[in-house]
Amino acid sequence: MIRLHNIEVSFDLGGGQEHTVLKNLSLEVERGQTVSVIGSNGAGKSTLLNAIAGTVPVRAGKIFLDDSDVTPLPEWARAMYVGRVRQDPLAGTAGDMTLLDNLALAYRKGPRRFRIATPPKFAREMADKVAELGMGLEDRLRENVSRLSGGQRQALTLLMAILSRPSVLLLDEHTAALDPANAEIVGELTRRFIAEFNLTALIVTHDMKRALEQAGRVVMMHEGEIIADLSGAEKEKMDVAGLVRLFKKVRGAEYAEDRDLLI
Ligand SMILES: Nc1ncnc2c1ncn2[C@@H]1O[C@H](COP(=O)(O)OP(=O)(O)OP(=O)(O)O)[C@@H](O)[C@H]1O
Ligand SMILES: [Mg+2]
Repeated sequence: MIRLHNIEVSFDLGGGQEHTVLKNLSLEVERGQTVSVIGSNGAGKSTLLNAIAGTVPVRAGKIFLDDSDVTPLPEWARAMYVGRVRQDPLAGTAGDMTLLDNLALAYRKGPRRFRIATPPKFAREMADKVAELGMGLEDRLRENVSRLSGGQRQALTLLMAILSRPSVLLLDEHTAALDPANAEIVGELTRRFIAEFNLTALIVTHDMKRALEQAGRVVMMHEGEIIADLSGAEKEKMDVAGLVRLFKKVRGAEYAEDRDLLI
């Protein structure tokens, strides 16, 4: 469960100047629900995920994860709740460590009962899991991650995010760097992981078709605010063309038929 109550994020630009990126933003996502987060470049989508993960501090408001108030907690202390894949393919893995060592680090973040039994057994288990990514990485477990392509690193990061058994999954354009076939595989894995572990997921994407298909709810951001929140019948009747119209509308174009969808 994610509950954001009137959060505000501002960046200090120096010289007494500030840029308020998230403005009085509230959002509630139930346990097991997946929400697609869409919005134009600079709308504040990544900042929203950073605020939840604790990477950026909030100036005001409260953040609850699974009923706990995590607002005062630093990023490392929220890691027991949060698994994430960031927009930057280099951000989620340590390039100068092997795939296996990266996976072991992620695994140790999880609860005790998932502790590694013996190194050979762990390596076999990881080979099986990595094979599910469908990218042939199971034969490269002892190579350094820096040798992988950006897309392969993103897929590995997704697997690492799941290994620590989080309850909240934050994915920031995690398939954008993948070729269409791999994006399909990783998208399908994402769906499977979310269902299998009953995760609460926020998935940022610029792919409108994917935004509609992967989630029962679509939230649109603009200039640091949530300006549309579509679920139920409203979301079911929405299509890609409708979402594109909403984008144009927030940029000032007149599309009267969708006006009522904006909050
Ligand atoms: N560390 C920072 N310092 C100053 N400004 C920042 C910082 N991080 C983000 N911003 C600003 O906050 C705004 C929102 O950025 P953010 O990265 O959240 O957008 P986004 O919706 O994820 O965009 P995109 O679709 O391009 O990834 C932008 O104007 C950006 O320049
Ligand atoms: Mg972003």
